[in-house]
Amino acid sequence: MSARLKDPLKAPVLSLVGNTPMASLRFNPEGVTLLAKCEFLNPSGSIKDRLAKTVLVDAVKRRLLRPDSIILECTSGNTGIALSMVGTAMGFSVTILMSEGASEERRRLIRRLGARLILFKSAGRYQTGIKASLEMAARDPRYFLTRQFDNPLNVADHEHGTGREILRQAKGSIDAFVAGYGTGGTLAGCGKAIKKQWPKARIIAMEPAEQALLAGECPCCHYIEGVADGFIPRLLQDAPLDGEQKVSSAEAMTMARRLHREFGLLVGTSSGANVAAALRVAQELGPKAKVATLLCDRAERYFSTPLFDDEKPRPRKRSVPRP
Ligand SMILES: Cc1ncc(COP(=O)(O)O)c(C=O)c1O
Repeated sequence: MSARLKDPLKAPVLSLVGNTPMASLRFNPEGVTLLAKCEFLNPSGSIKDRLAKTVLVDAVKRRLLRPDSIILECTSGNTGIALSMVGTAMGFSVTILMSEGASEERRRLIRRLGARLILFKSAGRYQTGIKASLEMAARDPRYFLTRQFDNPLNVADHEHGTGREILRQAKGSIDAFVAGYGTGGTLAGCGKAIKKQWPKARIIAMEPAEQALLAGECPCCHYIEGVADGFIPRLLQDAPLDGEQKVSSAEAMTMARRLHREFGLLVGTSSGANVAAALRVAQELGPKAKVATLLCDRAERYFSTPLFDDEKPRPRKRSVPRP
């Protein structure tokens, strides 16, 4: 631990995580209203700040982190940024393993926050990075693995944190909750909290149409960063799921751009995907249905990705010289 902070639990950034606002979005011409939880307003810009705070605070309280510990995680980006922010602010060293495919913006933020970044070639197989992180931890006892894919705190935190916040902010019954899954923590935790209070609520998984594993289809590449890493995560196994909605990468980007321009919400591709799926669920349930979803991260994280391809200047047509 650096000498910067005597008590890691007093890091000021910790008090900024969670308790995000809920926006009520009226969609015309669809004629439905969605409740959208603004997770992109967390301090590092994504829902993953919650996991980082909960796991690291727990580790400090249980004395699992020592002054020379190095926080280690394999991540598709947002968890890496969140752990880098919370971990370094608490005074610890952080090492992040990330697929070479992750956006340049994510890499820069991790480095800027003071963490060490190791890129691995995934060839679509996220498990490669997870295996590498386990091997590193086996070789060097200083590494502390946050284990986002197995850690029960991931689900518990969303059940008692995000899920309860949604229940409070929805002010009354909820008919459906729609979200994508990476580790499955958000969907399982929020799903459990909502089902407990409203057993008839439908908990729906958003899946990239190119990789609808819950729908029994084969993995293929998609552009919805942060979700669907090519396998069904363990944490999703006891999630109270009622079905899934497939959203293509193109649909996700179109909806994300609509959220930017029509609502002024600068969110990332997966937020577009969540909203596109939630909109379909709300249309199926009827105009009075109360459907909640999540806006997971910020648009600025995607400048170099296809989400912003529509901003690129188009090649000008050469004018043909008149004879
Ligand atoms: C960008 C992004 N990060 C994280 C998550 C949640 O992931 P997890 O299943 O790991 O809780 C989502 C889910 O929609 C997401 O879109």
